[in-house]
Amino acid sequence: EGKAIGMTAIVIMLFLFSLLYVTGKQKTDVVECVPYDKAYTTPRINQIDDKTYQVFAVAKMWNFEPSQIYIPVGSEVDFYLTSTDVVHGFNIAEKNVNMMAVYGGINKTTVKFTEPGVYKITCHEYCGIGHQNMQAEVIVN
Ligand code: CUA
Repeated sequence: EGKAIGMTAIVIMLFLFSLLYVTGKQKTDVVECVPYDKAYTTPRINQIDDKTYQVFAVAKMWNFEPSQIYIPVGSEVDFYLTSTDVVHGFNIAEKNVNMMAVYGGINKTTVKFTEPGVYKITCHEYCGIGHQNMQAEVIVN
C-alpha cells in the first residue's frame, strides 16, 4: 500500500511540474489586447532607455513596417501590432511569438532578445498573392 501511495505522489508531482513548465513557457508569449488608438497605425520604433524599446508594427498587403528593427543585445521590446487592411499574422519563430494583426485592433507582446542575430518576422496568415513574401526582421547586435 505504501508503494501505491508513493507512485501516486510521483505521478501528481510529475503532473504539477509539467503544468509549471507549460505556464512558464507561455509567460514569454502572452498576447495582450490594448485599447485602440490611431497612434499605433503609424509605424515607428521608440527607444525608452538603452535596453527598452517599443515597436509600433503595422501590417498591410504585403509588408510590415518598420521592415528592419535594429536593437542592441539584451533589449526588451514591446511590440504593438495592428493591420491597416486584412488580417495578417506576425510570427517570430525563434522567439515563439505568434500574433494576429487585425484592422481596428492592437495586440501587444513583449520579447527579450538576449542573443545576437537576425530574427525573421513572417506573416503566417494567408492574406493574398503577396503573402509568402511578407516579412520583416529584427537585427540584434
Ligand atoms: Cu500578410 Cu499573409
